[in-house]
Amino acid sequence: MAAHLRDDERPLSSWTTRCVNCHVGTSKAPAFAPPLTRESLLAETSRRGGPISHYDATAFCRAVKDGVDPAGVLLRKSMPRYQIADAECMALWRFVVHR
Ligand code: HEC
Repeated sequence: MAAHLRDDERPLSSWTTRCVNCHVGTSKAPAFAPPLTRESLLAETSRRGGPISHYDATAFCRAVKDGVDPAGVLLRKSMPRYQIADAECMALWRFVVHR
């Protein structure tokens, strides 16, 4: 899946862009990126100091494609922006929340 960093149009190598590279913690080290779980994404909570919000399919795909969270707060540059078709992103959302 093609992806790039904010303010940098160069494509990232595919081995760097797998979600689990960043979105997983080990028992020893804190995760580099927040968990991608049903509980965390559907929770009504304040993220990054923004107003209380939760993810739905549309908000999830906005985060993955445009790097903005459901409250409209910009994600860190370290979260890549993916060129992903809507149908593919919906499938990814269903995988994450129904697992
Ligand atoms: C290079 C590391 C990296 C990769 C690869 C990556 N992410 Fe992220 N992602 C991050 C970081 C860091 C954040 C937190 C950004 C922040 O808090 O500003 C994040 C945040 C998110 C969020 C917002 C979570 C929240 O709690 O608000 C979602 C959704 C997300 N990523 C989805 C994905 C998906 C889906 C993929 C794979 C298609 C992916 N990410 C791949 C680093 C990454």
